[in-house]
Amino acid sequence: MTVLNREELASKILEMRPWHHDIELFDDFSTGLVFSETRKLPKEENDDVTLISPRKKFMRQVNALFPEGMANKSFLDCACNGGGYCFWAREKDVERAVGFDVREHWIEQAKFVQENRTAFPTDRIEFQVMDLYDVPKHDFGTFDMTYFSGLFYHLPDPVTGLKIAADLTTDVLVLNTALLLDPDNPRGMTLAMESRTKVMSGVHELAWFPNGKETLRDILLWLGFKDLKVGMFNESNARKRGRIEILAAREAGRLDNFVGESLI
Ligand SMILES: C[S@@+](CC[C@H](N)C(=O)[O-])C[C@H]1O[C@@H](n2cnc3c(N)ncnc32)[C@H](O)[C@@H]1O
Repeated sequence: MTVLNREELASKILEMRPWHHDIELFDDFSTGLVFSETRKLPKEENDDVTLISPRKKFMRQVNALFPEGMANKSFLDCACNGGGYCFWAREKDVERAVGFDVREHWIEQAKFVQENRTAFPTDRIEFQVMDLYDVPKHDFGTFDMTYFSGLFYHLPDPVTGLKIAADLTTDVLVLNTALLLDPDNPRGMTLAMESRTKVMSGVHELAWFPNGKETLRDILLWLGFKDLKVGMFNESNARKRGRIEILAAREAGRLDNFVGESLI
């Protein structure tokens, strides 16, 4: 393996645009810092993709869920993009992390970070190019924690998609999705068509947006989760757009430590 110096790494990161995940490679050097000191990058210069730095939020979640760390725990990230969440789970000493995404572009980034990140170990993490719907063809085993972020509303059959991930989850699943709010039918879903080729979209063209948290509550209960807490909820009434993050646990009372609206 060739060891790249700072300049070579920076030039490779520029070349590998667009980036969605800002990930530290080592002290004072992250995929976001290559673009600006504030780790911001205008969407126009990033193929219409937003560069995000969600490490702190993820660490807060993991610290609350697993106060002893993630040793002996496994983590699955569905649609892992640049792999950020797997690397941060590894910082918490995760025993095994698997990240998959349907696009080679993102998995190339994740593997590039895996090779060049010296801030923390990057072993015990496996990345694969894969469509969510092909996951049942593989034997991944089960996972204590599953991330299902930014994927629900890119699927032609999101209930089947979420069930695939839920069936592999033994403890907690984190569902983060966009909403198309419809107060007249909050338990429904709204059909949308999307590009098959934009790097942040799905690949099946047909997609469904949940109309409210009620839709997701009912689906998660049907999937067998016994405790549900809203971690984040944003709505913009003018555009009927919303975003929600729900933590779903297999065991009743598992999320008692979490501040947030209970959906049970
Ligand atoms: C909005 S981004 C979310 C990325 C990441 N999960 C996060 O929350 O930061 C959507 C991601 O889903 C991936 N994706 C879309 N459809 C997929 C599918 N059917 N199977 C696996 N990945 C998919 C895209 O390639 C893209 O990386």
